[in-house]
Amino acid sequence: MYDQIITIERHIIEQQRSYPEATGVFSALMYDIALAAKIIAREILRAGLADILGVAGKVNIQGEPQMKLDVFAHETMVRMNSFTGRLAVMASEEEEEIIPVSDEYGTGKYVLVFDPLDGSSNIDVAVSVGTIFAIYRRLSPKGPGVLEDCLQSGRYLVAAGYVLYGSSTVMVYTAGRGVHGFTLEPSLGEFLLSHPNIRIPTRPKYYSINQGYQEYWSEGTRQFTGWLQGLDRDDPREPLSVRYIGSLVADFHRNLLAGGIFCYPADSRKPRGKLRLVYEANPLAFITEQAGGYASTGRCNILDVQPESLHQRTPLFIGNRELVERAEEFIHSCDE
Ligand code: AHG
Ligand code: MN
Ligand code: MN
Repeated sequence: MYDQIITIERHIIEQQRSYPEATGVFSALMYDIALAAKIIAREILRAGLADILGVAGKVNIQGEPQMKLDVFAHETMVRMNSFTGRLAVMASEEEEEIIPVSDEYGTGKYVLVFDPLDGSSNIDVAVSVGTIFAIYRRLSPKGPGVLEDCLQSGRYLVAAGYVLYGSSTVMVYTAGRGVHGFTLEPSLGEFLLSHPNIRIPTRPKYYSINQGYQEYWSEGTRQFTGWLQGLDRDDPREPLSVRYIGSLVADFHRNLLAGGIFCYPADSRKPRGKLRLVYEANPLAFITEQAGGYASTGRCNILDVQPESLHQRTPLFIGNRELVERAEEFIHSCDE
C-alpha cells in the first residue's frame, strides 16, 4: 500500500528530475504554495467558528467588500513567499500594485501571481471557494521585480494551479507535463496524489453560465447557450445539464473532471466580462490546454492575449475544445 502514497512534494521532485537544468528552486516554490494552501484550508474550515466571517470593514481594489478570509488568504500567500529568495515579484487580486520582493531576503528568478481567495462571496454560505496561482520566469535582469514581469502572456507560463476548498481540499497543478491533482489528508497534513494525469473527458456533461444575465448577452452567446440546451433546430444536440455554483474554481474543477464548458461572457453591462486575465483566466487556460481542452475570450486563445494591466478583465469560455470552438463560431457569425 505504501508505494501508492505520493505526496505533492515527492511528485514535484519526481517531475523536476525530467528537467536536468533544474536547481530545485521551482520545486521548493511549489512546496511553499502547498504549505500556504494548507494554512488557508485550515482557516476556511473554521470560518464559521473563528468569527472570521463578515466584511473586514474595507473594500479591495475592485471596490468589493473585502471578506476577512480574502485578507487572510492574501497575507498567507505573501508571507509564505516573501522571505524565500525564490521570487522577484508577486501580484495579487487583493493589491492594486505589484508586490516587489525585498532585496533584503534575496530575489529569485520566479514571478507568482494569484487570486488568494476566489468565490469569496460564498464564504458565509459555506460553499466551496478556491485559490488560483500562476508562475512565470522573471523578465527583468535582477533585484526586485517589476510590473512587466507580471504582464507576460499565458504562453510564457512555467506552472499554474489552483486549490479547491470544498468537501475535500484538492490542489491541482501543471508544470507543462500534464495536470495532476492531490487531495489533502487532514490527519497527515499532506496533499496525496489522487488524480494523476487529468484529461478532460471527450464527452461533455455540463455547461456553466449565469443564466440570470441572459438579457445582457450578445446574440452569439444567446445562440450558443441555446445550442448547448439542444434548442438549435438547424444543429440539434443532446442538451447538457447546467451547473453554476458561482465559484469559478469549483465550477472549473467539476467541468475539468466531468467534461463541459464554463462561460463568463462579455455582456452589455460588462463589456470585458468579469473575470481577470492575469490570475484567473490564464492559469486555468494553461491547465485546460494541458488537460486536452481549450480556453478562449470568445474570439481568440486566452493564452495569446497580451496583458496590458494587472487587473484587466476578459470574457472566458473554457473546457472541452469542441464546445469552446463552437462558442467562437457563434460569436464570430452573430456579433460585430
Ligand atoms: P472573486 O471572489 O475572486 O472576486 O471571484 C468571483 C468570481 C468567480 O468565482 C465566479 O465564477 C464569478 O465571480 C461569479 O460571478 P457572478 O456572481 O456575476 O455570476
Ligand atoms: Mn476570483
Ligand atoms: Mn478573489
